[in-house]
Amino acid sequence: MYRTHTCGELTIANVGQEVTLAGWLQRSRDLGGMTFIDLRDRYGITQLAFNMETNADLCEQARKLGREYVIQASGTVIERSSKNSKIPTGDIEIEVHHIRILNEAQTPPFTIEDNSDGGDDLRMRYRYLDIRRNPVRRNLELRHKMAMQVRNYLSNQNFLEVETPMLIKSTPEGARDFVVPSRMNPGEFYALPQSPQQYKQLLMVAGIDRYFQIVRCFRDEDLRADRQPEFTQIDCEMSFVEQEDVLNTFEGLILHLFQELKGLGIGQFHYNSQFCQTHGQMLPRITWHDAMRLYGSDKPDVRFDMQFVELNDVVKNHGFALFDNAELVVGICAKGCAEYTRKQLDALTDFVKRPQVGAGGMVYVKYNADGTFKSSVDKFYTADDLKAIAQQFNANPGDLMLILCGPAMRTRTQLCALRLEMADQLNLRNPNQYAPLWVVDFPLLEWDDETQRFYAMHHPFTAPKPEDEALLDQPERWGDIRANAYDMVINGVEAGGGSIRIHDRTLQNKMFHTLGFTDETAYAQFGFLMDAFTYGAPPHAGLAFGFDRLCSLFGGVETIRDFIAFPKNNSGRDVMSGSPSPISNDQLDELQIVLKK
Ligand code: AMO
Repeated sequence: MYRTHTCGELTIANVGQEVTLAGWLQRSRDLGGMTFIDLRDRYGITQLAFNMETNADLCEQARKLGREYVIQASGTVIERSSKNSKIPTGDIEIEVHHIRILNEAQTPPFTIEDNSDGGDDLRMRYRYLDIRRNPVRRNLELRHKMAMQVRNYLSNQNFLEVETPMLIKSTPEGARDFVVPSRMNPGEFYALPQSPQQYKQLLMVAGIDRYFQIVRCFRDEDLRADRQPEFTQIDCEMSFVEQEDVLNTFEGLILHLFQELKGLGIGQFHYNSQFCQTHGQMLPRITWHDAMRLYGSDKPDVRFDMQFVELNDVVKNHGFALFDNAELVVGICAKGCAEYTRKQLDALTDFVKRPQVGAGGMVYVKYNADGTFKSSVDKFYTADDLKAIAQQFNANPGDLMLILCGPAMRTRTQLCALRLEMADQLNLRNPNQYAPLWVVDFPLLEWDDETQRFYAMHHPFTAPKPEDEALLDQPERWGDIRANAYDMVINGVEAGGGSIRIHDRTLQNKMFHTLGFTDETAYAQFGFLMDAFTYGAPPHAGLAFGFDRLCSLFGGVETIRDFIAFPKNNSGRDVMSGSPSPISNDQLDELQIVLKK
């Protein structure tokens, strides 16, 4: 037997027992007469004690052990003279009688401690050592617990977990596919699923009624903190439901996760004072249109105020051409920031002018604590004019108003970046406070300037709102059509999204035509689904949560990489295994692939 106990379980109640532990040597301390070793495994750390006086040989042996050696130690549990209240085993230590080296170890390239001295790249290259560290292991534990809770909850609600294929047909709508060549069918390729969307709809035709899957998805897109090329979804679909049923079911899941994993009930979320509070047992909802108007984003962070205030009515016709010519003048009010210095304001102007934000400049109005005003546009606006602006903002003495102008949608997006920046500066984005909400009524179609056509904002199977269906016959109104599509947003992160699907063939054909497909191109891509729909497709709807994103939100960390055992870096590389990598000429030949010189 390698061990009688783990390194995390012995307490004062075990004093006097003979035990055997096994684990990694975290650290040793040689105090002359005594040598101490911290032995670590997944469950904790236990102190091993070696006494030079009573057993010099053993003590010498212990002193030679290096960091991360794998060792087995047998001895008696004794009470410590100086206790460590920070760890559960801190009241005891093991008076060792026997040690055995199970395996030696090279000195690790970084310290295996909570605060490691290893940089990101190094820790990723030796990810198996990184995972030995508590913070990373805890993240994987959280991920496991969440998966268990999701399975329990959905299974109790009659959802059936069904696996769908990983080698599927490429459907280039959406992100770019990862493709896999087929040896047996030279010149032909599978794609890895961007999501099991079409299969889950087929499962509804198949009568499965309630499906879910914790499933790996693959998207060849630019990477960011909350995006990985392979990531995991909690993918769900239901039959015979309306939007209300779907929202209720899945906010039930999210509320269950908050309760079980964070101990937070619906009354304990943290919405800003301007935002509607929860209505009874329901999460708040905001339309896409309002989210854009009030927060400049389809994933608003509503933990803090600074809702947008539109100023066209009060600022135009005062001789300030920039405002006069702008489609929209809009701003935010930063409470208590009137003391911002010239330097701080210049830095904010630089921030909005960065290419990533792209504003032309920023106007400020200070409502000083003494009731006077100071602005960057004093030349055009009298004190009374500035007061009218302040009233529009509901500002108080001591507040700072920051204003942008330009084309409406672009200016809103820029102001959203400024709002988040201000929130960061003012420490208003506490990762341990949560504000989940639904964003509903997304536009059905999105115009793309580059290709000069409309794309499905969600995907081509998303149903328009019945009251907007007629607009499909009016191409000039396509941009106004709203979809029965919804996103779950938590703390400014899109945690999940889905829609009511089109199950009516005529409507689906109309949708394909709107998206520029001919009958032939639509059939070539989606024929199997269209065929299936002729055999009795029930009304159905669904959604998918980003599982990694939920883990990182619950863990209070921004990057999802920390919750993936073996993630890719920002260039899509696994620096540990060295993938992607070239393949041999034999493999290329077999696949009949010729590389471009
Ligand atoms: P969507 O494309 O919105 O919908 O994806 C659902 C959720 O998956 C997460 N997500 C990602 N997480 C990490 N890395 C990525 N690259 C990444 N891309 C997406 C997000 C997102 O909200 N089939 C539809 C769902 C449906 O309609 O049922 C779909 O995939 O949290």
